[in-house]
Amino acid sequence: MKPKILVTREVFDDVLGFLGEHFEVEANQGDAPFSADALAQRLAGKAGALTSIVDRIDGALLDRCPDLKAVCNIAVGYNNFDLAACTAHGVMATNTPGVLDDSTADFTWALILAAARRVTEAERYLRAGQWTGWKLKQFLGTDVHHATLGILGMGRIGQKVARRALGFDMPVLYHNRSRLPEAQERALNARYVSLDELLAQADILTVHTPYSPQTHHLVGAAEFARMKPGVVFIHASRGGVVDDAALVAALRSGRIGAAGLDVYEGEPRLDAELLKFDNVVLTPHIASSSEATRRNMAWLAARNLVAALRGEAPPNLLNPEVRG
Ligand code: GLV
Ligand code: GLV
Repeated sequence: MKPKILVTREVFDDVLGFLGEHFEVEANQGDAPFSADALAQRLAGKAGALTSIVDRIDGALLDRCPDLKAVCNIAVGYNNFDLAACTAHGVMATNTPGVLDDSTADFTWALILAAARRVTEAERYLRAGQWTGWKLKQFLGTDVHHATLGILGMGRIGQKVARRALGFDMPVLYHNRSRLPEAQERALNARYVSLDELLAQADILTVHTPYSPQTHHLVGAAEFARMKPGVVFIHASRGGVVDDAALVAALRSGRIGAAGLDVYEGEPRLDAELLKFDNVVLTPHIASSSEATRRNMAWLAARNLVAALRGEAPPNLLNPEVRG
């Protein structure tokens, strides 16, 4: 008998077909997210699950799903997993690192350019029929080239963002838990600085840390107060790393020149105040969403699940202790 699995959200048909060769699949192609209770009910009797970032996998759920052996997130971020609880229950947990770095870095640049050069604001104006002709002082933006780029969180995605800055002739400063090897710093033309210096020096500041209790509100009122007046602030990592209420206050005070945001605290319900600012570019958590990358993420998660339930080491196992 094939092991039973749950695919919690809509995935690509070929991925579903692949999973069907290995498992008895319960799919949710209707794509409505499950409540915590519905998720526990669906997962009861399942050996594995392909999960999304909105599926909370914690001890209370795992207590109700004793047959579960693997949860495979279609995301690099996995703060929807209580990893310690997974380990305690002997459940392998996996994510999809690597395959989305370039697409996420590309999109970060889309936000940087759109925010600094007022792309979406100008488009709204044009679409509203307000354009009466060329004006010298119309939609004056902030130059991206030669500006100092500050990167908070210099993991795989932060480094890809830095590489792209080379083409814009930008000095790059970064802050991270650990420093990069010198050769890598040289290749990226990036200089390690304290958080204080990063906040004080960056003309454009972009956040690329995962969410965890340690990074909760890493950027809050005190940090916004230390940023350069007029800073272009970009956030495409995870809701909760930034204190959105403090961000709204910093926008209101005029300290922030422009912002580009792809993630929010409590998304999809975002702080309605954010909608009021013309100098903010808002997108719905799509930084990794190119056709090729979302496919690669789903395939990688599926391969992780197949390996896990075959008793092989999944390529992206987050808690290797489980395999002993
Ligand atoms: C998306 O947000 C991811 O973590 O992959
Ligand atoms: C603008 O359109 C210019 O020609 O400078």
